[in-house]
Amino acid sequence: MYNFEFKNQTEILFGKGQSAKIASRIPANAKVLFLYGGGSIKKNGVYDDVCKALETFTFTEFAGVEPNPTYETLIKALAVIKEQNLDFILAVGGGSVIDGAKFLAAATHFEGDPWDILEKGADFSNPLPIGAVLTLPATGSESNGNSVVTKKATQQKLPFGHPSVQPQFAVLDPQYTFSLPVKQISNGAVDAFVHVIEQYLTYPVNAPIQDGFAETILKTLIQEGPKALENPNDYDTRANVMWAATMALNGLIGQGVPQDWSTHMIGHEFTALYGLDHAQTLAIVLPSLMRKQKAQKAEKIKQLGREVFKLSAESDEVLIDQTIDATQAFFESMQVKTRISDYGLGRNTIDEVLAKLKENQRLKLGEHQDITLEVSKDILEMAYE
Ligand code: NZQ
Ligand code: ZN
Repeated sequence: MYNFEFKNQTEILFGKGQSAKIASRIPANAKVLFLYGGGSIKKNGVYDDVCKALETFTFTEFAGVEPNPTYETLIKALAVIKEQNLDFILAVGGGSVIDGAKFLAAATHFEGDPWDILEKGADFSNPLPIGAVLTLPATGSESNGNSVVTKKATQQKLPFGHPSVQPQFAVLDPQYTFSLPVKQISNGAVDAFVHVIEQYLTYPVNAPIQDGFAETILKTLIQEGPKALENPNDYDTRANVMWAATMALNGLIGQGVPQDWSTHMIGHEFTALYGLDHAQTLAIVLPSLMRKQKAQKAEKIKQLGREVFKLSAESDEVLIDQTIDATQAFFESMQVKTRISDYGLGRNTIDEVLAKLKENQRLKLGEHQDITLEVSKDILEMAYE
């Protein structure tokens, strides 16, 4: 196991009615930006709960943060923060709203072009504190320091991350997820699954705690994800999915182990270019990436097959192939398609994605830094149909 330092500062407020505690977690004199998305919170009661929780505070609403939040929209929210001297951000929504809040937090006291935070990894100081009310279990953004923002003008989707922009608290009320469209239930389970895989499916470093936690999260998603589709109003199922998605990317399982993240990096280019949902891009890339990298990942693929999918086979080779097939079948069972051609995209996609990877310097991806552009090309060819 490698050395690590681990601290997760986010206080989790989990369960029914927990939004009532928001007021006690925000400084009494704070001037709050209430940040949200396209309006789903107005239809499911979340907006009313949050307004009630904020009734003793001075707050300003900013709506309209889109899925895959854009720099162009966030810059408008930044102007509101500055004009009104707001000093706390309450992000209410899915990963996009929470990621948007992190960018705003970092950009508020940043001198210079805020895009440099994403494109150049520019340092920032004194970020605004953030609280989160999660409505879509998927990204883990409610309890990590990562953010991904898209610049429409240049079709760039870039990540940044820092512990100082991690939410101070996060309300996880599973009831808030009852209103999710089927597509977002599917996306959430697939995204969380792939988050675990990015931190697990590398090579063994004798870390049974991390491996065991990771396997439990994967098994939970495989079991509870389809149940959430079949029986959307089951509270316990929603609660398990919600906690699994948070645990998948709150830092815990990634400590002291090698990490991959190549599926995410390649996937981001599909969203930047064609607007595919984040989880759809992962479902396209991961099975082919596993097939291409099966020699390097052999030990962990076998472990995934044995421990998570409960497979046994006459040879290692068969076990590996069955495990990859089972992973792909899980995505398909969650109704997320796994081939580029399933999304109505032509073969030109492959060269366009490769050009974007090159532009963004994604030239050596993966735990061995061996996913070069040539390897990415093979992965994309395999993912086509
Ligand atoms: O905007 P509204 O109207 O609220 O609707 C949203 C949106 O259209 C809707 N929704 C959310 N909660 C709902 C709901 N509809 C009904 N009922 C509810 N309870 O769902 C749609 C998608 O929301 P979005 O926030 O975009 O989804 P998600 O949580 O999957 O976030 C995706 C973004 O997070 C990034 C992705 O790249 C993408 O930009 N990621 C962030 C990560 C992180 N911070 O650690 C890691 C991930 O790998 C990922 O990259
Ligand atoms: Zn993801």
